[in-house]
Amino acid sequence: MRSERPRLSVIGTGYLGATHAVCMVELGYDVIGLDIDEAKIERLRAGEIPFFEPGLPELLAKHIDGGRLRFTTSYPEVAEFADVHFVCVGTPQRKGELAADMTYVDAAFSSLAPHLTRKVLVVGKSTVPAGTAARMESLLLDLAPNKDVELAWNPEFLREGFAVEDTLRPDRLVFGVHSAWAEQQLRAAFAPVLETGTPAVVTDFATAELVKVAANSFLATKISFINAMAEVCEVTGADVTKLAEAIGHDARIGRRFLNAGLGFGGGCLPKDIRAFIARAGELGVDQAVSFLREVDEINLRRRVRTVEIGLDLVDGSYHGTHVAVLGAAFKPNSDDVRDSPALDVAASIGRRGGTVVIYDPHAMQNARRMHPELTYVESLIEAVTGADVIMLLTEWDEFRAMSPERIGALVAHRNLVDGRNVLDPVQWRAAGWLYRALGRP
Ligand code: UDX
Repeated sequence: MRSERPRLSVIGTGYLGATHAVCMVELGYDVIGLDIDEAKIERLRAGEIPFFEPGLPELLAKHIDGGRLRFTTSYPEVAEFADVHFVCVGTPQRKGELAADMTYVDAAFSSLAPHLTRKVLVVGKSTVPAGTAARMESLLLDLAPNKDVELAWNPEFLREGFAVEDTLRPDRLVFGVHSAWAEQQLRAAFAPVLETGTPAVVTDFATAELVKVAANSFLATKISFINAMAEVCEVTGADVTKLAEAIGHDARIGRRFLNAGLGFGGGCLPKDIRAFIARAGELGVDQAVSFLREVDEINLRRRVRTVEIGLDLVDGSYHGTHVAVLGAAFKPNSDDVRDSPALDVAASIGRRGGTVVIYDPHAMQNARRMHPELTYVESLIEAVTGADVIMLLTEWDEFRAMSPERIGALVAHRNLVDGRNVLDPVQWRAAGWLYRALGRP
C-alpha cells in the first residue's frame, strides 16, 4: 500500500463523485472514476461534465489527457488500481416515503467488495441514515476476499455551484474511523488539504454519519426560521430583509442562510431532513426531530404563498394570463431541478390555467424533462415579452441585474413577484411596477 500518496477510486460520478474525482487529481492524486452508466462515463472520457458546475469543466479539461485521471465501468479495474475507494453514490428520497433509498449505496458496496483481494480502505461519502456504516462494514467483511479491508465514513459538505471550491478548500474534514490505520490512510488521501490548516474531526461511524444530517438540518431550520418570520412580517407590515440584517449582526446568529423567500430545494436539504425524520422514527427518537416536520412545512408553505401573491396581481385568476417565470434551478449557478421551488411554483400556476413561460440560464433541459407541459424560451427577453406578471423564482445574476424600465417596455402589465427578495422595491415601484415579495411590504 502506497500510504504516502494513495491511489484513489471514486465510485459514482454524479455531482459529488465527478467533482471529487476531478478535484483529487488537481490535488495531485492518481484517480479512477467509476459509474455504471456507460453514457456518463463516455462523456467524462470525452472531457465533458454531464451537469453544470462552474469551474469543473475547465479542471476536467486540464487533467483529462494528463494520464492521472481515467474513467471506467469495471469494478475489477477499480479494485486492482486503488488503495482508497470513495463511495459517492446518491441516496435519493424513496418514492412515496420519507426515507432514503439505499439501493445505490448497497449496490456499490456489494459490487466492489468481492474484488478486494488486498488490504484497502473503503470510504463512504454518501449521506446516509444512521447505522449504515456499521451495516456496510459487515457487508465488506462478508464479501471481501481480504478480511483486513477497512471502512471509514467521510461525509461531504460541498454546495452545488461552489463544489470545486468546497472540495479543494473545505472548512472541515470529518473522519469516522475504527482504527489508527484507517485515520492514517484518510490523512494521506487528504494531505494537501490538511497541510493548509483545514481542521479534521476524527470520530466514530455513528457520529460521522450524523454530522452530515445534523448540519443540513441546521441549515434547513435556519432558512425556515427566517421564512417563518417572513410569514409574521406579512401580517404586521414588517420587512424580513431588514429583520435578517439586524439579527444577523449578532455574531451568535450570523447573517448567512437567513435569506427569506421561496425557501430551500435541491437534492440534499429536503430529502435529508425527511430521511432523518424517518430514521429517527425507526430508532424510537421521533420527538427529537419532530421540529423538522415543521421546518419542511414552513418551507412548502412559501411555495403556496408565492402562487397566491401572483394570483393577487392577476386579479384572482391565472386563466388566460401570460406568466413569465424567471428561474427553474433550485438555486443559481446550478442546473439541478430536483425539488426545485421555482419549478414547483411554475407547475402549480400551469395547473391553475396560466400560460407559464420559463427561462433559466442553465437548467432548461432538466426542467423540460421534468415538466414538459410548460413552455420554455431561450432568453429573458422572450420570457417577459407580453407578460401579465413576472415571477422571479431563482436569483441568477442576470435577473438581479434587470432594469425596471427596459423590462417594463416589454411586458403587457408591470406586475412582479420577487420570490427571492433580491430586487430593490423602491426602484421598481418608481418605474411603475406593482412589486410584491415574500415577507416585505
Ligand atoms: C446543501 C448544503 O449547503 C451542503 O453543505 C450539503 O453538502 C448539500 O446540501 P446545496 O443543496 O448545494 O447544499 O445548496 P445550498 O446552497 O445549501 O442551498 C439550498 C437551498 O436553500 C437552495 O434552494 C437555496 O435557494 C435555499 N436557501 C439558501 C434559501 O432559501 N435561503 C438561504 O438563505 C440560503
